[in-house]
Amino acid sequence: MLKPVTLIAALALTGLALNACASTGAGHGGKLAASQQRGKAFAEAHCAACHAITPNGTSPNPESPPFEAVVNTSGLTADTLARFLRDSHNFPGAMAFEIDRAKIDDLAAYMVTLKRADYHPEI
Ligand code: HEC
Repeated sequence: MLKPVTLIAALALTGLALNACASTGAGHGGKLAASQQRGKAFAEAHCAACHAITPNGTSPNPESPPFEAVVNTSGLTADTLARFLRDSHNFPGAMAFEIDRAKIDDLAAYMVTLKRADYHPEI
């Protein structure tokens, strides 16, 4: 059991991390750019059944890495991510589908907003 004081401190820290994420992630005073919004809507419609697509989410399908975990892989950029998504016929099992090419840049633009300098994977 956490002592109440420890718990409150932990919650306060989480709040800070979330705020930091919202502002650095969006880059426009907390609002997503138009392409990022389109990407988010597309992810909600086509990816969210399996993946957590927002910060600190838990994937509905436990085998699917949260988007936050995917984009915080070191070296990943919107470009490398878009290239990966274009090759989606190479996805394993559940991901064996093609993503609408016209949507890939929006999707990548949204997904990289989940990058965080202080990201630590939950083990
Ligand atoms: C039916 C469930 C399902 C849906 C829908 C789905 N995924 Fe996945 N996805 C998975 C699973 C399962 C994995 C893990 C595959 C593995 O590593 O074996 C995965 C892995 C990934 C990875 C990471 C691959 C890696 O190796 O790091 C990316 C990126 C990804 N999905 C993007 C997407 C995007 C973008 C969408 C929506 C257009 C989407 N997924 C929709 C199930 C799904």
